[in-house]
Amino acid sequence: MTQDELKKAVGWAALKYVRPGTIVGVGTGSTAAHFIDALGSIKDQIEGAVSSSNDSTERLKKLGIPVFDCNDVDSLDIYVDGADEINGHMQMIKGGGAALTREKIIAAISRKFICIADSSKQVDILGAFPLPVEVIPMARSYVARELVKLGGQPEYRQGVVTDNGNVILDVHNLKIMDAVALENKINNIAGVVTVGLFANRGADIALIGTPEGVKVIE
Ligand code: A5P
Repeated sequence: MTQDELKKAVGWAALKYVRPGTIVGVGTGSTAAHFIDALGSIKDQIEGAVSSSNDSTERLKKLGIPVFDCNDVDSLDIYVDGADEINGHMQMIKGGGAALTREKIIAAISRKFICIADSSKQVDILGAFPLPVEVIPMARSYVARELVKLGGQPEYRQGVVTDNGNVILDVHNLKIMDAVALENKINNIAGVVTVGLFANRGADIALIGTPEGVKVIE
């Protein structure tokens, strides 16, 4: 099976967690795109979606799925999204697609975070994937210096502006042993909007695509 077939399998497997008549939290990326396509097949059974990026919003709208403003929704049943890495504690690195801040907001208002990922995303220790940090543009150099103090090697993601008008620093060479502590530390640096570590709020359910089928971890 190709990696994309594994992503498609988990995207469609997540449909099982969608309750009729609800508004669904929807992530961003190539795996989430498969989930959106799956959602399209039951669009008449749901009320709509809250989206974590302009790209996902466009895809949802093309399929005729109503997209709600996050401010008009108190809470969501589920949030379905991919990950760049997920460890055995259901903690994740996200933000490869630069949508980390909106992803974190939707995760925060959702009762269940369902992570959909192919098995290449499973790791023992987070950090081989460069950790994305969304930063207010004027703070870029300061935040980069602070990230060096934490042992990382930040790299400015050239040419990328987030949906919120900010920039991304990708932090290389981290071996994340205490993800909760690092998430808190980085979020405390002035000028940081969000770090793409989802450790305080990890996944509740992970659907992992393997050549032998979809593995469910709860
Ligand atoms: C988007 O900003 C990310 O958090 C994605 O969820 C993550 O990068 C996974 O992307 P893929 O599903 O494309 O691998």
